[in-house]
Amino acid sequence: MNKKYIVHPGGKITGELRVPGDKSISHRSIMLGALAEGTTEVTGFLEGEDALATLAAFRTMGVHIIGPDKGKVTIHGVGMHGLKAPATALDLGNSGTSMRLLSGLLAAQDFDVTLTGDKSLSGRPMKRVTDPLALMGAEIETNEGKPPLNIHGGKQLKGIDYELPMASAQVKSCLLLAGMYANGKTSVTEPAPTRDHTERMLGGMGYPLQQQGSTVTIEGGAKLTATRIDVPADISSATFFMVAAAIAPGSDVTLKHVGINPTRIGVINILKQMGADISLTNQAETGGEPVADIRVQYAPLKGIQIPQEQVPLAIDEFPALFIAAACAEGQTVLTGAEELRVKESDRIQVMADGLTTLGIDAQPTADGIVINGGIIGSGEVDSHGDHRIAMSFAMAALQAGGTIQINDCANVATSFPGFVELAMQAGLNIEEIDD
Ligand code: S3P
Repeated sequence: MNKKYIVHPGGKITGELRVPGDKSISHRSIMLGALAEGTTEVTGFLEGEDALATLAAFRTMGVHIIGPDKGKVTIHGVGMHGLKAPATALDLGNSGTSMRLLSGLLAAQDFDVTLTGDKSLSGRPMKRVTDPLALMGAEIETNEGKPPLNIHGGKQLKGIDYELPMASAQVKSCLLLAGMYANGKTSVTEPAPTRDHTERMLGGMGYPLQQQGSTVTIEGGAKLTATRIDVPADISSATFFMVAAAIAPGSDVTLKHVGINPTRIGVINILKQMGADISLTNQAETGGEPVADIRVQYAPLKGIQIPQEQVPLAIDEFPALFIAAACAEGQTVLTGAEELRVKESDRIQVMADGLTTLGIDAQPTADGIVINGGIIGSGEVDSHGDHRIAMSFAMAALQAGGTIQINDCANVATSFPGFVELAMQAGLNIEEIDD
């Protein structure tokens, strides 16, 4: 069953909130915990559909996993060579991260496996992983570069030196996971820094790897040792409330225990440059990842040219940042973000369409968008099944002249279970209706 949101205009965002666990780290905790020797205890795990798809995939491959129960997951690691052939295809739902990371990990196993996904995932590019994996000796069939992926196991992979053609943590991570099984060294060089959760977790579980400038190198044949993993709150989920507080006068919100890994904080940097009042307190480190409480108090925003180097650091936050731009004074220009066109939806086009419906001048370009701040009206927008687009337009209602209806919202459950309840608690006037 699908969902739609009816969001009534006005309101402000206040209080102390803890958003669910980080999606990227939750996926990796299952993958590496499964391959480790010993029992990995995870807390703060994201009980959203994407991370649960990864968890289910490893159960299907014979890993004993207890939970999740209130964010707690216990994974009985099977070691690097303990996965079992699944009896069925692994359905990864909406999750690009699951499919791209698993393709690397599974290319090196001694069994065949098929990876499938939902309509959105079935349209997403996979050659970015299958091409370099083929150079390593993997054998994977795609449907014209898209899922399903038929992975033929039993191949001995060999290490490669690979320069990523795009800034992608998923591709980097895929190759590092494959590299753990390859003969020799695998080096991945990225054109710009991307999230480094895989590298941090590998290090935390005792797998040696070297970082030199923009190149990370891993050698096959070592092992992972189980550990405790405390998953911080997801800065990508916190973003909706950060933007909400930044656009709605009278707002003052604190997001608790949020991951502020330097490769993820583009949203803070960009909002600050737009004039947002953001402060960090209680900075600490947990399980190799920096965390903090993030306080956002309303302050008027201005349009900016978004710095190129911030793009990979804020890649999932642009739908929400476009709402901030719509509420800012002046023009915001984004370039160098063509990757947004191949996310869960074409986020440039879908956001431009929705903003236009709401009366905002938003011009899509090949690799970005130009948004002129204005007055948000009312109307009906379509999220195209993209969780982040649904949540972004929900926040736009705070500054809208009338009600905003958002269609196709069920996929919010992929990354943010309990979004509607938390948004209501924070001050958003939102109703969720079965569709
Ligand atoms: C992710 C990497 C990013 C991001 C995605 C999660 C990850 O994708 O958009 O939501 O967990 O590695 P790309 O690496 O394709 O940019």
